[in-house]
Amino acid sequence: MQSSDRPPDPKAPPGGEIPLAGEGRRRKPWGGRFHENQAPLFERLNASLPYDYVLAPYDLRGSRAHVRMLGSVGVLAPDEVGDLLAGLDQVEEEMKAGAFPWDLGDEDVHMAIERRLTDIVGSLGGKVHTGRSRNDQVVLDVQLYLRDAVRGHLGRVLDLVSALLQAAERSTGVVLPGYTHLQRAQPVLLAHHFLAYVSMLERDAGRLERWFESSWMPLGAGALAGVNYPLDREMVARELGFEKVAPNAMDAVASRDAAFEYLSVATGCALHLSRLAEELVLWSSQEFGFITLPDTWTSGSSIMPQKKNPDGAELVRGKAAGFLGRLTALGALVKGLPLAYNKDLQEDKLYLFATRDELDLCLESMSAMVATLAIDEDRARVAAEGGYAQATDVADYLVARGLPFREAHHITGRLVALVAGQGRPLASVTLDELRSLCPLFDSTYYQVVDLDKVVAGKISPGGTAPRRVAEQLSDAFDWLTTTRSRVQEAGPGAGPDA
Ligand code: ARG
Repeated sequence: MQSSDRPPDPKAPPGGEIPLAGEGRRRKPWGGRFHENQAPLFERLNASLPYDYVLAPYDLRGSRAHVRMLGSVGVLAPDEVGDLLAGLDQVEEEMKAGAFPWDLGDEDVHMAIERRLTDIVGSLGGKVHTGRSRNDQVVLDVQLYLRDAVRGHLGRVLDLVSALLQAAERSTGVVLPGYTHLQRAQPVLLAHHFLAYVSMLERDAGRLERWFESSWMPLGAGALAGVNYPLDREMVARELGFEKVAPNAMDAVASRDAAFEYLSVATGCALHLSRLAEELVLWSSQEFGFITLPDTWTSGSSIMPQKKNPDGAELVRGKAAGFLGRLTALGALVKGLPLAYNKDLQEDKLYLFATRDELDLCLESMSAMVATLAIDEDRARVAAEGGYAQATDVADYLVARGLPFREAHHITGRLVALVAGQGRPLASVTLDELRSLCPLFDSTYYQVVDLDKVVAGKISPGGTAPRRVAEQLSDAFDWLTTTRSRVQEAGPGAGPDA
């Protein structure tokens, strides 16, 4: 397909789409042993440039660190280092200005940059690749990309936590039914419900921060066996903010488990968002009616004028499927590959790039929805009342008066059957009716079925009693403040160029 047949690519690199044909069939840097040009169709199958151009800033950072290190160990002369760094600066400026001459024939971003560098500085450009292979280069670029991605996710997770904490503060005193099996189970505070998601996101943030421990500096591995130069790999690692140099060259170029772990952490977070999205879909339905989503986050129907659909939340729920697919895809890609590098591995970037973009989009969308949802306190309370969610407390009340729990459970069940049949709340049952079920009932029963008292009774740490929820809220605010300052200040894995 020619580019004119396609809609414009919203993610095209600056300067426009990469031509799918054109200069492509000129001499390749590795072309020495070949007599014929590549088939145009193979060129398209083979090229990662249409998507790996997003690695360009990381490739430039990695090349600068590599060149400086080659200078420091005496493999490059000081003036060569200076000329190469100036050339790399010019490449970067051309990219920023949208003036970089993209060409599919370069195959990938690494060769595109080296080709342009050579156009600019002459044959010296080829020296940038001394002691390096695209196999270790691409792993480095992806690690730098993922480090940025993880830092970005962390900030957005914290933003969502902040939105949830504010929603929890806004909903102090709001009681809604807590569910099991999607049946009304026990009344809980809405703030408690929001804080459950804060707990999940705290763990997601912990996993994101710990991911840096798996991100090792691969450069110096060469194609697979190491290289013939006494490289200072620690120097490159320091400059780029890595704590650890990959100790085995073959592992460094062959493994993708840090990428897999990244996808796994991102997917875990997407699953949490998907569950929260599902709550918003349910709660905003006419059946539940606990919240209203703003017009800005809902869509109308093209045929049913009365509809206000929670598409934003539905899409966040749905996108979790793609996260799982990409995680599974990377596992399948790596499974059974012999050491070391295989071209299959080029596909990893498709999953990683999509997951980064989608997670940022989902996190930002959830923050916006949580910040703008309106709570219908009365509807929530009526639902909690109507579900006889105080029944467990009535049973406990009879237990406190000496009945074995099983018997208390049975009597309370009969009580619920009585009121449910007549559509009455538990508080409307007369003392005579109660006594006919069990002589142990007295007027203190009416305190037990008071929703706020039921909620206030859940005093075990982590429970839904207002004072326990207040503790959780304040702990979460503390956690947010410390984590935010840790992430902002040092920034895990942040190098000087970051
Ligand atoms: N574009 C390639 C990738 O993403 C870079 C590494 C190419 N290595 C090779 N031996 N052809 O995996």
